[in-house]
Amino acid sequence: MSKMRIVHRCGDCGAGHPKWSGRCGSCGSWNSLIEDVEGDVGHPPLLSGPPPEVQSITQIDPLEGQPRSTGISEMDRVLSGGLVPGSVTLLGGEPGVGKSTLLLQLLAAMGGRTLYVTAEESAQQVRLRADRLGALHDNIFLLAETSLPRIRAAAAAMRPDLLIVDSIQAVSDPEIASGPGSVTQVRGCAQQLVADAKSNGLTTLLVGHVTKEGTLAGPRVLEHLVDTVLSFDGERHHALRMLRAVKHRFGTTNELGLFEMEGDGLRPVPDASKLFLADRRAGVPGSVVAPVLDGYRPLLVEVQALVTLSALSSPRRSAQGFDHGRLAVLLAVLDQRAGLMFGPCDVYASVVGGIRLTEPGGDLAVCVAAASAVTGRPVSGKIVVCGEVGLAGELRQVSQTARRLTEAARLGFTTAIVPRSAAVEVPGLEVIRVGTLAEALHTLGLVNSPEFAPRSLLLNEPL
Ligand code: TYD
Ligand code: MG
Repeated sequence: MSKMRIVHRCGDCGAGHPKWSGRCGSCGSWNSLIEDVEGDVGHPPLLSGPPPEVQSITQIDPLEGQPRSTGISEMDRVLSGGLVPGSVTLLGGEPGVGKSTLLLQLLAAMGGRTLYVTAEESAQQVRLRADRLGALHDNIFLLAETSLPRIRAAAAAMRPDLLIVDSIQAVSDPEIASGPGSVTQVRGCAQQLVADAKSNGLTTLLVGHVTKEGTLAGPRVLEHLVDTVLSFDGERHHALRMLRAVKHRFGTTNELGLFEMEGDGLRPVPDASKLFLADRRAGVPGSVVAPVLDGYRPLLVEVQALVTLSALSSPRRSAQGFDHGRLAVLLAVLDQRAGLMFGPCDVYASVVGGIRLTEPGGDLAVCVAAASAVTGRPVSGKIVVCGEVGLAGELRQVSQTARRLTEAARLGFTTAIVPRSAAVEVPGLEVIRVGTLAEALHTLGLVNSPEFAPRSLLLNEPL
């Protein structure tokens, strides 16, 4: 007989604690412990009969694990080709980001006999949505169910080519003595589905909700159970949605998939740069284009800045689409290494289109946009700038400059300003190499001299 006990389990890292506390002693996250009831697992009996057969690595058929295309180009890109038969994939994302929509479209595009278990919405709701998405198909089977044993029985009887469970948080197993949605339930249910997938070769896709705070019974406790973890996100007020692999046993995790949420579902965006630059007004001070990277994917994004005299004693600094602290650093570098002072001004800087800069390649663009805004001088619409800005005002090389510039040339840009050490040539693009931020600003006609003499802050005069 198993013994039950109460534990307080962290929703982030899954660690159990005998007592509740405001902070998880294992991963340090706040307010993530929830009460749970657990039973002893007990010792499984030793196997009787012959031991399982082992195989030489060379005798294993590599074709068995070939991915199968999902029929959605951007999804295949992220999955390095498609879903591997018998694999388990977890699709995580905030509620409302479009997970159910994406999966219905996937079912329609992928074909084959598929089973969609809807544990949150009714079968009618799913059908109505499928109608709207043009995803009605005789071979898509629906089951509106939250009980895990019933879901497993249905899947075992039907043996679909693909099983989707939307969402794992809404499913529960009455055998597990813990409330629906608790970490123990979610993990227990996922474990059984993973075991079924492995023993029956059933390709499975689980949906998991995460919240901005990073959450209760969040999919993070499931990451190690599954083969692939995809994260689907996007700004609430933008149509852009980004799909990334956070973990992928069958390929790289560096690809980025882009979609736009429209009235009739998600539309893949193969040419993202064109989309980001579509509404651009060239010739306005405070705007410049930067070739940035998201994983392997080069994207051209417009970086904008607006500078106004502030009425506040501590002027406002706002950064959208990149780190707020980075903006402060770059403004300090502009002040001390290029002589452009923003002291009494409010500075607003943003990356247009709902994309987030996660690498330093956009530094120079932020500086150029701010310099262009404060001087009122526009930057030519045919120029891109790229590079990391150091505290000494030097420009530093960033990874994969050639990929970035090739993308810029493809979209018709004619000139690129890059760090001196970046030894790249791209046909059709004039590449101008500069050593410092002041030189870059001078090349763009934003400051009058490529040299900047540092001032002493204390003496308020040239050194
Ligand atoms: P949904 O797929 O239900 O999100 P999730 O499963 O991640 O919770 O998508 C919900 C949002 O998407 C909802 O706010 C409406 C929007 N949407 C569209 O804009 N167009 C569409 O065609 C569909 C189906 C949904
Ligand atoms: Mg949903």
